[in-house]
Amino acid sequence: MTDRFSIARDRFSIATPDDFHAHLRRGSAMGAYARRHALSFGRALAMPNTVPPIASGPAVAAYREAILEAAGGALAPLATFKLLPGMSEGTVRACAAAGAIAGKYYPAGSTTNSSDGLRDPAEAEAALGAMEAAGLVLCVHAEDPAAPALEREEAFIPVLERMIAAHPRLRIVIEHVSSAALLGFALAAPPRVAATVTAHHLLFTLDDLIGEAMSPHLYCKPVPKSARDRDALRDAVFRGERKLFFGSDSAPHPRSAKEGARAAAGIYSSPTAVAALAGLFESGGALAALEGFLSIRGASFYGLPPASGRLELARGEWVVPEELDGVVPMLAGKSLSWSCSRT
Ligand code: NCD
Ligand code: ZN
Repeated sequence: MTDRFSIARDRFSIATPDDFHAHLRRGSAMGAYARRHALSFGRALAMPNTVPPIASGPAVAAYREAILEAAGGALAPLATFKLLPGMSEGTVRACAAAGAIAGKYYPAGSTTNSSDGLRDPAEAEAALGAMEAAGLVLCVHAEDPAAPALEREEAFIPVLERMIAAHPRLRIVIEHVSSAALLGFALAAPPRVAATVTAHHLLFTLDDLIGEAMSPHLYCKPVPKSARDRDALRDAVFRGERKLFFGSDSAPHPRSAKEGARAAAGIYSSPTAVAALAGLFESGGALAALEGFLSIRGASFYGLPPASGRLELARGEWVVPEELDGVVPMLAGKSLSWSCSRT
């Protein structure tokens, strides 16, 4: 079958991508990260694991404003809040009133800035009920930090099952799915459960991280897994799985925090994710599936209006800089065959 993308072409456009999982941080670096994000994305679901966390109505409102201002309006922030143990229904309602569309569940100790997270959903039962009643989306970092690193997603599945059963109307996004096991679970779950997929989990495996040399700039949570896991993710997004949409999990850490004896978890992928994905989807004969993944299905799951504007992709080699915004970006020093610009 031929479609309009299957012939070799040097230029095409898609609706402006959305990023449904972005770490824009706060403080002095936020502006640069937000402006970089705006080069590829129209909207970004801004993760709340900042220091201090976004966990109240006023914090949600202030963070949204700060991002809007930092990016000069070019990036529309989609706000979230962090679920904390004992969070009240009133706090959830205040976050929603301030514009939050999702709350984030971090298992305590599972990733960067999560020591104040939850040890069990029971610790946030009132908040989860209020989210369900208010129609907010629950975003879940689905890893059990007590399990071995490569088995953490699978070990968390029983917790997801409990939350899905306990809150029959709650919409849930399983974030940055990285294993065939959790992918299979997400695809078999009810339609109100979806999952985001990052660029790096589609591109890399554990061997890229540790097989040849220790590569701290590819270190993230959840860690990239086997080729079998990566290929299961690729197959699913290439065939346009309805439940899967893009969330970059772009998570910048200054070079010094990545190259020390204890590398921080997080990959700065926003500068290169879309260009790299265009190359990957093209090599998989799946360019026709790129727009649905990047620009359509996430907004549809969240009940948001379709993205406005277009992103133009053009063929042409460029070499990714070794450093951007004080951070080593994903694929630094490598050459990419597509570039993108918003129109
Ligand atoms: C993220 C960060 O740095 O905030 N790190 C990561 O490895 N992905 C947190 C997260 O989403 O796990
Ligand atoms: Zn993240």
